[in-house]
Amino acid sequence: MHAENQALTYGRQDVGLTPEESWPRYAEPHASIRIFAVCNQDKIVARGYYDLERGAEPTAWLDVDVDPAWRHRGLGSAMAGRLHDVADADGVRKVIVYAPSTTGPGAQVTPTSGSGSLPAGNSEVRFLLGAGYQLEQVRRASALTLPKDASSLLAEASLAGGDNYPVHFWMNRTPDPWRSDMAILRQQMGRSAPTAGLDEPEDVWTVQRLIESEVRPSDGTRDFLTAAVEDRATRQLVGFTTLAVPTDKDRPVNQEDTLVLSGHRGHRLGKLLKVANLEHLQRERPGYPVVITFNAEENHHVLDVNDSLGFTSFGHEGAWRLGLT
Ligand SMILES: CC(C)(COP(=O)(O)OP(=O)(O)OC[C@H]1O[C@@H](n2cnc3c(N)ncnc32)[C@H](O)[C@@H]1OP(=O)(O)O)[C@@H](O)C(=O)NCCC(=O)NCCS
Repeated sequence: MHAENQALTYGRQDVGLTPEESWPRYAEPHASIRIFAVCNQDKIVARGYYDLERGAEPTAWLDVDVDPAWRHRGLGSAMAGRLHDVADADGVRKVIVYAPSTTGPGAQVTPTSGSGSLPAGNSEVRFLLGAGYQLEQVRRASALTLPKDASSLLAEASLAGGDNYPVHFWMNRTPDPWRSDMAILRQQMGRSAPTAGLDEPEDVWTVQRLIESEVRPSDGTRDFLTAAVEDRATRQLVGFTTLAVPTDKDRPVNQEDTLVLSGHRGHRLGKLLKVANLEHLQRERPGYPVVITFNAEENHHVLDVNDSLGFTSFGHEGAWRLGLT
């Protein structure tokens, strides 16, 4: 139902994950996910998703989805109330929601980040504000139609870094020599992406966690294509980007994390990585229709790179936070 609601909001069928693509997340050893449903006879008419992270600051990520034919009867509010009660019982003090939204004219709600806005009249905006949530960040959803000839962009981006930053490629498992560098980059990712006031708990990455996380793709329905840049002077990786590639060639490829360490910014390495991985995708796994990405509206560097590649926006996503007392 979540994917159906995403399709309704964005006007395209391909944004949400299929149940099979979602499954590896549910199967993670430390995941604590609960699904709640309101049923009418044998049909689910409202669904609640509850994803708990324990730890020093217990945090929960929620979704509430109501079948369009069953809205405006109090089901969404009842489901949100139930999820908040569960969170409270788990000692959660912070709840986070990522909700798809259309943008448009009229009165707007601006996020804590100060970039972008969402229409105050949207049903999900009214719903979340009514439940006490604060809009922290607006994320732009964009798509790039494939195939894309990126060879001239690749040549241009390669010039800026010269011979100092060779690019390495792999699918799924990080090659042994790069594992400790990748654990550092993944750890840094959580600290570097702009998150407004979401203050999401930091992921702790070790080589062991990296190895465990990379075992999953083999039993999932997606492969992960990575491009990484090495700093020739220190022989360490200083940036990476990953594309999630579904088995089904009619499905979109999803752009996952991209990071360049702060000491190596200003050499167009972000652009180099993204363009090189796009070429990697089209070389290794050609035939996909589109790449989809979500980026914070305040993340000008990444949005500029995406614009230069030809990504166009098809909607937005609000990142909302509720404090429980
Ligand atoms: C947002 C969403 C969950 C709301 O579900 P819902 O079941 O319509 O929610 P409610 O019925 O509790 O409240 C919606 C409105 O109906 C009103 N309402 C509630 N009970 C009502 C009743 N018996 N009669 C008439 N109106 C009623 C509420 O006051 C509210 O009005 P408002 O929009 O003017 O503030 C639903 O639109 C949805 O699934 N959207 C897509 C997914 C999404 O964006 N989820 C939000 C992020 S988790």
